[in-house]
Amino acid sequence: MALPRRALLVAGLLAAALPLLLVCPAEAGTVGVNYGRVANNLPNPSAVVQLLKQQGITQVKLYDTDPTVLRALANTGVKVVVALPNEQVAAAASRASYALLWVRRNVAAYYPATQIQGIAVGNEVFATAKNVTAQLVPAMVNVHAALARLGLDKAVKVSSPVALTALANSYPSSAGVFREDLAQPVMKPMLDFLAQTGSYLMVNAYPFFAYSANAGDISLDYALFRPNAGVQDAGNGLKYYSLLDAQLDAVFAAVNRLGNYNGVRVVVSETGWPSKGDASEVGASPANAAAYNGNLARRVLSGNAGTPLRPNADMDVYLFALFNENQKPGPTSERNYGVFYPNQQKVYDVEFVLGAGGAAGGGSQGNGGLGWQENGGPSSGSGSTSGNPPSGVKVTTGEAWCVANAAVGEQRLLAALNYACGEGGANCKDIQPGAACFEPNTMVAHASYAFNDYFQRKGRTIGTCDFAGAAYVVNQAPKMGKCDLPSTV
Ligand SMILES: *[C@@H]1O[C@H](CO)[C@@H](O)[C@H](O)[C@H]1NC(C)=O
Repeated sequence: MALPRRALLVAGLLAAALPLLLVCPAEAGTVGVNYGRVANNLPNPSAVVQLLKQQGITQVKLYDTDPTVLRALANTGVKVVVALPNEQVAAAASRASYALLWVRRNVAAYYPATQIQGIAVGNEVFATAKNVTAQLVPAMVNVHAALARLGLDKAVKVSSPVALTALANSYPSSAGVFREDLAQPVMKPMLDFLAQTGSYLMVNAYPFFAYSANAGDISLDYALFRPNAGVQDAGNGLKYYSLLDAQLDAVFAAVNRLGNYNGVRVVVSETGWPSKGDASEVGASPANAAAYNGNLARRVLSGNAGTPLRPNADMDVYLFALFNENQKPGPTSERNYGVFYPNQQKVYDVEFVLGAGGAAGGGSQGNGGLGWQENGGPSSGSGSTSGNPPSGVKVTTGEAWCVANAAVGEQRLLAALNYACGEGGANCKDIQPGAACFEPNTMVAHASYAFNDYFQRKGRTIGTCDFAGAAYVVNQAPKMGKCDLPSTV
């Protein structure tokens, strides 16, 4: 697999070649995984822990406090979010003694050997356990008080995953607002609690659902973090280049309506894309799942996952899910969100650590060759609406090069550069420190090098020198210091 190598090179490029930019992007976030177990064919927990280690996965989120799982995770260094299930929310809310006993038995009994760092109190309560909505924040308060009593409140944070359906409106992002029955009664007290306890808001966000239901209106590239023309939000003047950003900013907009909660981070407690679905589930495919999860992971790991409203936010995400879960009810997609099959083979390739792990595990679909102009191809089967140019039509018969358009700004150049050197498959080794085209050490020069390599590699076909407006074609050999951009590869 060549992909991890390239990703490593991009990481090196960012760290060594562009110190200026290091000040801007947030610190890298972590890509964790949801270890769901609604299946009858999963490996035993100690085998799963070996798989996590082999993949470099350092954070997992559970849906309960299963003792065999928590024991298997002991002394591994893996950080764990456990859950108090919806069925226990009412009891934890009404009796402090219940919450204390629960924390003693399910958290204190394993900590610190098992590095429990968070408790999800309930899961999508407003959507799946509506009748305990009013008990949710009181339960969180009691669980926190129990942690405090046991001296664990600094180490273990209390939160509750909120589904996007908590929003009454999410489009455009600037119009984001919580449902009226939740805003003042639940979300405001929850945000106050999260701010007071130094915790974070957990959000479960699935661009897949929005895309799948509106595939005629939403571009697949926009949903999959691929270069695209962007979507302007007339309300806040910001331009969005990914659906996940737009969804998260709708949450931030909704939060901002309730007060100043800038100190409350957001953790994406679930996100993912199914590798398989029913005929009606437009967009479900291994290639799209690989692109969504792979591109998201690269953004998070390289510290570029901030949104237009919170550009410097370092983002932790938990992919959903570790395994395909064969006992989940609902449409086919529900049983096909896993990165791994129960036999531990990869459903598709995703890196959890920049430059590592990609070669591990067999059965990979691979995503290294998935340039964005191919995404209307046979593997996606999704009816992309992104206006992809016809493949295979050459831009010009004479010599041609592709160069960066400085006017779009460094942020967009960086995003396109990461794409070109990562998923796009450009060879970026010559712009690494010490290599022939490291100088001039500027974003425009490095991006030009990468865009041109991508363009030449794709046979200079139409649409392969655009990068959402970040690049354009020239017909005279560009000069970049001593570096000549090749007109072939
Ligand atoms: C909420 O509804 C569930 C399922 O119908 C029920 O088992 C539970 O007792 C209810 N809880 C409360 C607090 O009303």
